[in-house]
Amino acid sequence: METIPQEGRGGGFLTRDTLRVGDNLILRVNSSPYQGYYKTQITAVDNQTLTVTMPCDKGKLILLSSNTSLEVFGCNDKLNFRSQVLTRGFKPHPYLVLLLPLAAQQKPAGTRVIAVTSGKGGVGKTTIAINLAIALSRQGLRVFLLDADLGTANIDVLLNLRPKYNLSHVIKRQKELLDIIIEGPERLRIIPGSSGLNELANLKEEDLNWLIYNLASLEQYADIIIIDTGSGVNKNVINFALAANDTVVVSTPEPHALTDAYALIKILDELHHRTFPYLVLNRINTFREYSRISRKLSTVINQYLNLKIVNLGYIFEDHVIPKANKKLEPFLLAYPYAPASRCIDILAHNLLNSHKTVHKLPSSRYNFFMRLKELFLTNPTEHKSAVR
Ligand SMILES: Nc1ncnc2c1ncn2[C@@H]1O[C@H](COP(=O)(O)OP(=O)(O)OP(=O)(O)O)[C@@H](O)[C@H]1O
Ligand SMILES: [Mg+2]
Repeated sequence: METIPQEGRGGGFLTRDTLRVGDNLILRVNSSPYQGYYKTQITAVDNQTLTVTMPCDKGKLILLSSNTSLEVFGCNDKLNFRSQVLTRGFKPHPYLVLLLPLAAQQKPAGTRVIAVTSGKGGVGKTTIAINLAIALSRQGLRVFLLDADLGTANIDVLLNLRPKYNLSHVIKRQKELLDIIIEGPERLRIIPGSSGLNELANLKEEDLNWLIYNLASLEQYADIIIIDTGSGVNKNVINFALAANDTVVVSTPEPHALTDAYALIKILDELHHRTFPYLVLNRINTFREYSRISRKLSTVINQYLNLKIVNLGYIFEDHVIPKANKKLEPFLLAYPYAPASRCIDILAHNLLNSHKTVHKLPSSRYNFFMRLKELFLTNPTEHKSAVR
């Protein structure tokens, strides 16, 4: 039987108390034009950031730019975490501001449920859900990934895991939820959904109650639950997106994908989606392309739906992604310094920082699990002919 770690936050050793002004650190950098290990010293620590002296090499300042990913080592070899340069400055002395992993920040309140969805299939939802979940898990958050894609549930396959049980065993009372959860990379916990969710929309009320009761027990263990919902406008996708605290709509720059993303956002809005959806553009070739398409889509949605969307970020078209998929490894771990991996880290950062800005309705009486149950029992999607 799998057990959930009781110690809770990952990164165990790292707390704000282990980072003291004056302590020496080593930064490991592997990005153009700097590669190597550089000595530095902590000059300030606050809730979210760590300020350090700008490192030097042979008398020259190492001018790391914003968003550069790096690894931080303490002189005590137990202290090691990943970070990113937030900004740099020169007065009164040259310095870098680094982002602290969440393990060292204040604990987020409650469980945040994030649905990753799309209008058109094959745009990269599962790839993004897995790698985003790992990026968040690496920050010291307790992250669960629920495979709720009915058509092509494949999170376990892509991570080379072979779950013996899935949610259907929970529904049939053969297993409890904690028994079916499997451990993925970087402490990520995976809930195999596959065939179990096929019948979700047609479950008897007592079975649905049992399932939701089980899912709700995750609240005490999880900081974040990411749901790979599958694509399109079917009831399962819509209900998960409506119940979640946040909905990430993934699209590629391809016109069909953008049109389907628009259609999905329109339906969510008509069904009184409570938050502004996040948009992630995948398979982007240049930042210019991202900027042009995201601006255009935001304008159309604003104009025709009178709705704001939050442009969360983009992932570059990157050959390491199919390569990592073939090796059955998440690209973030197999190719940590690839352009797509940097994009994922930035996406995770943006997601954690934009939470407060997206809610358009006052927070609901219910949490995600209660909303999900209500949605499946009352089926608000039924009156929409567009929803299959
Ligand atoms: N940024 C990228 N660069 C290159 N290839 C990518 C990128 N993102 C995704 N892919 C490739 O696109 C394919 C589809 O990705 P993925 O399975 O994540 O999409 P999906 O939206 O989950 O699909 P489905 O709707 O079938 O569940 C995969 O082969 C993946 O390797
Ligand atoms: Mg998928």
